[in-house]
Amino acid sequence: MFEFYHAHPSVNRALQTRRFQTLPATGALGADVSGVDLKQLDEDGFAELRQALLHHKVLFIRDQQLEVEDLERVTLAFGEFGREPYVKCMPDHPNVVHVVKEADEKTPVVFGGAWHTDWSFQEKPPAFTLLYGKDIPPFGGDTFFANLALAHDWLSPPLQAFLQGLDAIHSPERAYGVGAAHNKLLENMDIRFGEATDGEVRRHPLITRHPETGQRVLFVNPAYTSGIEGLRPSEATALLTHLFSVAAQPTFTCRMRWSPGTLAIWDNRSTWHLPISDYHGMRREMYRTTVVGEAPSR
Ligand code: SIN
Repeated sequence: MFEFYHAHPSVNRALQTRRFQTLPATGALGADVSGVDLKQLDEDGFAELRQALLHHKVLFIRDQQLEVEDLERVTLAFGEFGREPYVKCMPDHPNVVHVVKEADEKTPVVFGGAWHTDWSFQEKPPAFTLLYGKDIPPFGGDTFFANLALAHDWLSPPLQAFLQGLDAIHSPERAYGVGAAHNKLLENMDIRFGEATDGEVRRHPLITRHPETGQRVLFVNPAYTSGIEGLRPSEATALLTHLFSVAAQPTFTCRMRWSPGTLAIWDNRSTWHLPISDYHGMRREMYRTTVVGEAPSR
């Protein structure tokens, strides 16, 4: 692991930037961004921000004063809005999800509380997700991220070659289907669940090529990947369990601490994320949008 990590091109390193400062979060991925006002950033500035995002895979842009309309404008600087299934958007903002947990909720269950890539069962899953921290507990409620390009490159060449020809099956069933009663516990979010989700099941290459960086990515995740085409369920389960445990190794992750006014943007095509449910009895309020991506390909 040590040799791999220090010699590898996809590890997280500092990037020279002109219009803002970046500080890598860990050796795996992520960076804090300071010295930028997103409401004033011009086209060249957004182009530089996109390069930083592709390089670090997740950015935490600190000290922003954004209204929902500002978040919409920043989102559109990265591309078209994505479609938000299962979660109802805000009445006046049809592309913005209000992710909120009130202090008086009865259970510690949080929205999106398992390692996942956003909406990976869609034909064109989001390229990017933006999450703005409006009200943040004094501690707790961090979000973990994992670098799935590093996880791919860590696999042995024979295993990579075997996986290269396979398609994985992605389904919203566990998260939003017939048995997904945990959604009832999210008292202040409007989530559709409890119906058959067969129409949303899709196959994607198990190893994808990132459309902008060219990196190979392990494109499976614990929340939505339900099987592997052509393998018996027991074979798929064993293989996926192994791949998930590789990707979730601490060495391939970063843990981001929120502060009010932080905007996170992640490259959904090469990462997983996991919000931590450790702030029961405290309020956390975020606004979330996605940018539509491409159909994943080899
Ligand atoms: C999500 O999965 O989009 C929510 C992440 C978070 O609340 O930190």
